[in-house]
Amino acid sequence: MAKKYNIAVIPGDGIGQEITSAAIEVLEAASSRNNIEIFTKELTAGGAAIDKFGLPLPQETIGGAKDSDAVLLGAVGGPKWDTVEPELRPERAILGLRSGLGLYANIRPVVIHEGLEAASPLKNPGKIDFIIVRELTGGIYFGKNGVYQSGDRLPDGTVKGKIAYDTEVYSEGEINRILKIAFDLAMKRRKKLTLVDKANVLVSSRMWRNLARQMSFDYPDVELECLYVDNAAMQLISRPSSFDVIVTSNLFGDILSDEAGQIVGSIGMLPSASIGEEGKPGLFEPIHGSAPDIAGQNRANPLGTILSAAMMMRIMFGEEEVAYSIENAVRKTLASGLRTGDITFVGDSNNVKLVGTAEITKAVIENL
Ligand code: IPM
Ligand code: MG
Repeated sequence: MAKKYNIAVIPGDGIGQEITSAAIEVLEAASSRNNIEIFTKELTAGGAAIDKFGLPLPQETIGGAKDSDAVLLGAVGGPKWDTVEPELRPERAILGLRSGLGLYANIRPVVIHEGLEAASPLKNPGKIDFIIVRELTGGIYFGKNGVYQSGDRLPDGTVKGKIAYDTEVYSEGEINRILKIAFDLAMKRRKKLTLVDKANVLVSSRMWRNLARQMSFDYPDVELECLYVDNAAMQLISRPSSFDVIVTSNLFGDILSDEAGQIVGSIGMLPSASIGEEGKPGLFEPIHGSAPDIAGQNRANPLGTILSAAMMMRIMFGEEEVAYSIENAVRKTLASGLRTGDITFVGDSNNVKLVGTAEITKAVIENL
């Protein structure tokens, strides 16, 4: 009997529709070859939901996501919604989904694909293969924030001039559970873990560092390295191939993963998996944004989303064969010279061909 998986698909805004459709096409093709049936249900979130329902994350969307086996998301946001209330911004949908589904661990593999070396801004990128484990439901993204108006009375005096604030807050529990995921992952790989923090300045970072050192006693085979985030940003460029697993807070992980995306040729290539409690649906999405400037023009790179679907099959369902077949098809497609605009570059060899979203998706399916 065929296995069945129910996938909630949230296209979102901008190029979201094109890239999620592409990924579902590939996923269905790869799954059917392995006697797996994929059922999809489309849900609305982000700017699209603001336009339709007046809010970025309708109850029906969060409910539908919870009822699914896994969620595939495109991207949200765009200049069209830049003027809406902060609490109604499209990005709130992503944050609401992550916290609503309890997805505290964001896994972002960073791999340089064969043939894309020249698309990297680095002269000799070498073999790059590391994973960023980003804490996803804590830190400054979810800490207390607000605005004090001039004249507001506070216990320690009256506010002079407007003040805005955000706070970086982490509990031991939040840090330990993400550290454990990172240490376990390092054990399955090259056994090297880099903690990225700002422990020379931030109190919360010092707690991260202490807890990481404590946990490393339980993992004597894992080499633990601790870097300040400014230094890490530099080391990612000077010695990218020496990293194996990087674990860090929500904000630092957000920043470093965009940098990592560029190092391997294009942010359009990077997939991600957000996971939480065992047995609950995970969320799978490319790390890039909604690229409204190229939306609907058949120019978006769907590979980050296609690779996110592969991660879904592996991590959520243990379907290693399907995951591998998708990843291998992407490799073959790139090796054959097909490129979307974001991964073409000056000086490309003749064998490289610029194609659109639809063409590269078709090629991936043929290469399955
Ligand atoms: C990401 C994005 C999101 C984030 C935005 C859209 C809220 O940049 O997934 O990296 O900051 O986490
Ligand atoms: Mg980001």
